Amino acid sequence: KTIAIVGCPFSGGQPKLGVDKGPIHLVEAGLIDQLEEIGWKVHFDGHHQFEEIHAAPDPPIKTLLKNPRLVSRVCESVASVVGGHAKNGQLPVTLGGDHSLAMGTVSGTLASYPDACVIWIDAHADINTSKTTESGNIHGMPVSFLLGLGENHPEFAWIRPVLKPERIVYIGLRDIDAGERRILRENKIKAFSMHEVDKYGIGKVVEMALDHVNPNRDLPIHLSFDVDALDPSVAPSTGTPVRGGLTFREGHYICEAIHETGLLVALDLMEVNPSLADPESVRQTVAVGCSLVRSALGETLL
Ligand code: ARG
Ligand code: MN
Ligand code: MN
Ligand code: MN
Repeated sequence: KTIAIVGCPFSGGQPKLGVDKGPIHLVEAGLIDQLEEIGWKVHFDGHHQFEEIHAAPDPPIKTLLKNPRLVSRVCESVASVVGGHAKNGQLPVTLGGDHSLAMGTVSGTLASYPDACVIWIDAHADINTSKTTESGNIHGMPVSFLLGLGENHPEFAWIRPVLKPERIVYIGLRDIDAGERRILRENKIKAFSMHEVDKYGIGKVVEMALDHVNPNRDLPIHLSFDVDALDPSVAPSTGTPVRGGLTFREGHYICEAIHETGLLVALDLMEVNPSLADPESVRQTVAVGCSLVRSALGETLL
């Protein structure tokens, strides 16, 4: 089987510069060679080009949602690239860029695998709607668009509400906005916060998460990994770090366990921002990003 690397140098879903450099750093750190070393054929035809996507002027929607047209068009294009690779039987590995890109990647996956489930590893729920968002940053909203919650914005008309609330599960949450908490509860969306990770241990949490979204272990899995799920001491170079996160091993265990299911069909690694923090912290974050990807794709310890 072949991996298709989809490098997405995009930062329009949030205000901090530099997250668009994440994919370039991950590739320059040797990710492609590393994946070939563990036995994959890797297809990579350069980072995705968004230059042709212009959306100026791009006034906020309801004076709040920032860069809505740009984010929407970029994600539409990511959806078609990821969906195209999936249709060819390749396993798309999308490197972000900010997490708004997951509107595109998950849409692309579900176009090829309509019964796929999503495992979302994050400090944040990213499930705000235009009514609940406090920041207006669309990287805090992709899940609500995929579920079809909130109002319909014509700017985002291409997104089909393809994801069912029972087909997504979260691990690692610890910074949830009030409106998001209500949305999670109202839609009965399963989430394992850091409290559950502490209480049950990561092995049990991953098993319970899979039991929820994939009870018979027969559905394709899209793993969307926001590097800020890891503790800032492990992955410091990210735009919205939150203390009290996953350890190095807990993050890798999740990836290893999902690989072991044999059901992974798409992977996102998001929110690596090499412009934040000192050079050593950047190196550390990029290295941990590469190693999470390797674990999800079959690198074993023994
Ligand atoms: N909940 C906050 C917000 O809307 C933070 C979201 C952070 N999201 C992320 N992908 N890092 O705006
Ligand atoms: Mn290609
Ligand atoms: Mn996050
Ligand atoms: Mn996120």
